[in-house]
Order: sequence, then structure tokens, then C-alpha cells
Amino acid sequence: MLSARSLFQEILDNDDSFRLFCSIAASGESQGGWENARIAALVPADERALAPKITRHGADEDKHGRIFNALLKKRGLRPVDVPADTDYTMLLERQGIGLAHEKLKGEEPLTVQDIVTYLAHSRVTEQRASEEMELLRKYFGDHPDLGRAVRMISNDEDNHLAYCHEELLRFAAAGHGRAIQRTLRECALAEIRVYRDVSLAVMAHMGRVLDWPRPKAAVLAAGIRAVYVYERAVGWRRMVSLRMPERRDALGGPATAAPEFA
Ligand SMILES: [Fe+2]
Ligand SMILES: [Fe+2]
Repeated sequence: MLSARSLFQEILDNDDSFRLFCSIAASGESQGGWENARIAALVPADERALAPKITRHGADEDKHGRIFNALLKKRGLRPVDVPADTDYTMLLERQGIGLAHEKLKGEEPLTVQDIVTYLAHSRVTEQRASEEMELLRKYFGDHPDLGRAVRMISNDEDNHLAYCHEELLRFAAAGHGRAIQRTLRECALAEIRVYRDVSLAVMAHMGRVLDWPRPKAAVLAAGIRAVYVYERAVGWRRMVSLRMPERRDALGGPATAAPEFA
């Protein structure tokens, strides 16, 4: 039977597919870490209070990158280069979603509008991260090698999502509501396309590594396309709603360390 669980299991069981999976994950996480560190450095004077939370957000993502690399090392594997068509963060940036890397590489302070854009982009991508990690936690939360890592990252992604909701609601109350709604919609519609393309690319690479028969690859690709059709019709709406989270100030305080990993 082809299930999400058996698929993950198959990817974890093979060194080459596990290596590809962890390398893609580590690279996305560290790019997120870099982006957040730059945003924290360029926060406008009026929003100084947000800087420690953005720094913490970045530190968490960096930690996730190190955790995925540590999982590889534990199995005696080295990371591989990430194929360009699986680079979610870069593909989103190319679509003009979030803040341009050119801007983040500069020294010019960001505007409040830029901060709203960053939060809206994060609201959408953290929802994806939180859902993906929840799935991994469901299947592998008790796994002897991966369980702790998966539970820790999943908890962090839930924090990131809660923080985005809370801060966006604060900006909405301060009069940025229309800009937030417009940006969220733009981000969500672009994200579901990029997510589909990246999922298809990841599965194509995995299929080659694991030597999947054509019918199996075709069923998986059809499944990914069906998810997109659903998300384009209704699913995208879950990514643009704003609700005050139960966890308040989720990124207050310093990042929790993961000394056993990195
Ligand atoms: Fe992360
Ligand atoms: Fe995150």
C-alpha cells in the first residue's frame, strides 16, 4: 500500500534518499536562518522591539539546519548539493515572494511595510512547515533516532506560526490590515504553486534514487497535483486567516539549545 507513512519510511531506510531529504531540509532551514538574521539586523527604528524575536526566529531555523546535518553525520553521511528545482526558499524568492535577497544583503534599514511583508510571507511558509512537521511527528515522533529532533523542530515551527499570527494581528490593528490581506493572498497563491513544483521535483529525484517503477511515480505525481487543485480551490484560505494564538509571545526569550545535535 502506498501511504505517506510508507513513503517516508522508504526514504529514511535508504542512505542516498535519506541524504537527499536531510540535505534539502538543512539547506532550506539555513536559508531561512540567514534571511531572518538579516531582517533582524535591518529592522526599522520604530520596530526595534521586534528585533529579538526575529533574531530568535532565525536562530531556531539555523538550529534546524544543524539538526538535519547532525542526523546525516550520525549515519556517517555527508550532505549533497541541493538540486535547484527542489530549492523551495530560492524559488519563492524568485517569484518575488517575501523580501528580495538583494535588499537583505544591503545595509539600508527596512521599512514597516517590509516588516509586514516578512511577517505575511512567514505566516504562509510557517504554516507549511508546521503542517509538514506535524505529519513527521505523527509518524516518527517515537522513532529512536529521529523522534527527538522531529518533536523539537515541530514545536519550534508551531511557535513561529503563532508568532506570525500575533504580530500580524498587531500590525492589522495599527492600520495595516489591507496590505496584510493583499500580501497574504499573493504569498499563499505563489506558495502553493512553488510547493507543488518542489514536491514534484523532490519525488522525481527520490524516484531515481530509489528506482521507483513508473506507475508508482505516476501515482505520486498525480497525488501532488490533486493536492494543488484542492489548495488552489479552497485550501489556500487556511494560509491567509489570522487568529490570536493560544501561545502568546511564542518567540519571547532566547532560542532553546539542542546540544545533543549541534
Ligand atoms: Fe525551521
Ligand atoms: Fe520556522
